[in-house]
Amino acid sequence: MLELVSVTKRYDIRSVPAVFDLNLKVDSGEIFGFIGPNGAGKTTTIKMMTGLLEPTEGNIMICGNDIRREPLKCKSAFGYVPDSPEIYERLTGIEYLNFIADVFGVGSSDRKQRIEKYAEMFEMTGVLGSQVRSYSKGMKQKLAIVGSLIHSPSLWILDEPMMGLDPMASHALKEEMREQSGNGCTVFFSTHVLEVAEKLCDRVGIIQNGMLAAVGTVDELKSKASAGESSLEDIFIGIMHGEGNAYV
Ligand SMILES: Nc1ncnc2c1ncn2[C@@H]1O[C@H](COP(=O)(O)OP(=O)(O)O)[C@@H](O)[C@H]1O
Ligand SMILES: [Mg+2]
Repeated sequence: MLELVSVTKRYDIRSVPAVFDLNLKVDSGEIFGFIGPNGAGKTTTIKMMTGLLEPTEGNIMICGNDIRREPLKCKSAFGYVPDSPEIYERLTGIEYLNFIADVFGVGSSDRKQRIEKYAEMFEMTGVLGSQVRSYSKGMKQKLAIVGSLIHSPSLWILDEPMMGLDPMASHALKEEMREQSGNGCTVFFSTHVLEVAEKLCDRVGIIQNGMLAAVGTVDELKSKASAGESSLEDIFIGIMHGEGNAYV
């Protein structure tokens, strides 16, 4: 479904790579959590997956298509929620959602049904008539989440999606991730919230200094961890303190 092959990104030819030789395969229907400290390379990786940034080296395949060679095929297959969504401020919420549905060629009955369902789920129904510039950060985030689902993607990519969401919205998002994965959609998201990753993800990848330090189910990582490391948080802290070799 999603495959990264030896992906490296250098923002500057002379600088240390932001992402280095990243190899990763995520299967259909999997919920994959991408975790790592600030500056580890999560957003850079996600921007390369979505075609917003070009890898310096390596390839990224989405549903068997190369994001650089077949960008439209790839872009019609995934939904993307960026880390800080910038939405046309003068549009109303409903105008924005209809615009996204037009871009993806979503028919009128599907779009109506999905907008109603997701607007209700994220408690947006009452504000869809208002301009986006009147929205709080959390409301913009929720609008971007609803917009990313309008075309029923087979890969759902979210960059730190819990940030700025209240507990109700965060709960709704986690439920929807499970629902999407149950329907065969692949969910790939980055997060700092390790408890969420531990509970929600089929597998996690821990990225540090642009390199994957560990990948696997939480149970697999626990079985490789030092004695006393009993949670994903313990494992994460251990890796940050230089115990990464145990996992590769
Ligand atoms: N546009 C950019 N130009 C130069 N360096 C960048 C740019 N964006 C990110 N970086 C650098 O790349 C590294 C990875 O950043 P990023 O992918 O944003 O990490 P994360 O999302 O894990 O916090 C950091 O060292 C960051 O400073
Ligand atoms: Mg980031």
